[in-house]
Amino acid sequence: MDEFSAYLERTRELVDRALAEVLDDYLDGVSEWLASPIRYACEAGGKRFRPILFLASYEVSGHQVNNRVVRLASALEVVHSYSLVHDDLPCMDDDDWRRGRPTCHRAFGVERATVAAAAMVPLASWVVAEEAKALGLTPAECAGLVSELSEAAGPMGMVGGQVLDLIAEGRSLSGEELREIHRRKTGALIRAAARLGGRVGRVGVETLAALTDYGESIGLAFQIADDLLDEELGSQGVGPRSDRELGKATYPGVFGTEQARATARRLAEEGIAALQAAGIRSWILEGLAIHVVERES
Ligand code: IPE
Ligand code: IPE
Ligand code: MG
Ligand code: MG
Ligand code: MG
Repeated sequence: MDEFSAYLERTRELVDRALAEVLDDYLDGVSEWLASPIRYACEAGGKRFRPILFLASYEVSGHQVNNRVVRLASALEVVHSYSLVHDDLPCMDDDDWRRGRPTCHRAFGVERATVAAAAMVPLASWVVAEEAKALGLTPAECAGLVSELSEAAGPMGMVGGQVLDLIAEGRSLSGEELREIHRRKTGALIRAAARLGGRVGRVGVETLAALTDYGESIGLAFQIADDLLDEELGSQGVGPRSDRELGKATYPGVFGTEQARATARRLAEEGIAALQAAGIRSWILEGLAIHVVERES
């Protein structure tokens, strides 16, 4: 296994462990009715890309990652996992499979899945606030992190993007409209993951600006790659239903496969260039940008 793959695997394990710990701590006393679908939604199987990105951005500060920082990073996975539960609901993408097993609503019913996912949003904010406080961040810094995560996940960010995605079903879109959907529904949280890692590490203004540009580029590239994978894998019965079947506007659908692939690659390169222009040398962040567009799942 190459060095980068080994890093990904090692860090994914760290995130899995910290996330399990966080759920144990924060769901203590919560009824099984609610806690079980939350745990199921967060369980291993995901790539843990957003927490890993957070941690790599944090390391740009020169600080070493410790378990408390990984616990904070795992809050991003809670938000992401909630978004997948809602994304898969019958009223949204109506998917039966996620991460190689039945979707949350298939396993627990629509009622429990919907409520559990709603609980995961404040849960994630709570984790960020508490873990940042335990790390010694100031009240203003803690508030800033929660505010940024909420904005990225909220009506102008991820949820707003999901709304645009839903109302676009069956319509033909301009490239600009499609870009906006992807930037919001997927890009916003990825950009926030890069920025929040930098903010927790207290990087300087220029470094944070570079992480922002980097996160923006690879966030958009991530959803283009997701569309390309969807196109390649189609509906194989173990992943989400093909977007094409749902009449979703996708990058390969609007621009063709070759151009979509070229755009994703260009965005990854732009992300890396933004880091280099700011003098940030991180083989991990550079590797993540390439991984986003070359991944096979
Ligand atoms: C899938 O996200 C949905 C999108 C936002 C594109 P991931 O590709 O990160 O899914 P997991 O977490 O690894 O399962
Ligand atoms: C998901 O996009 C975006 C969010 C969950 C915010 P998709 O609908 O393309 O994700 P998959 O393909 O179902 O994983
Ligand atoms: Mg969707
Ligand atoms: Mg979907
Ligand atoms: Mg998809």
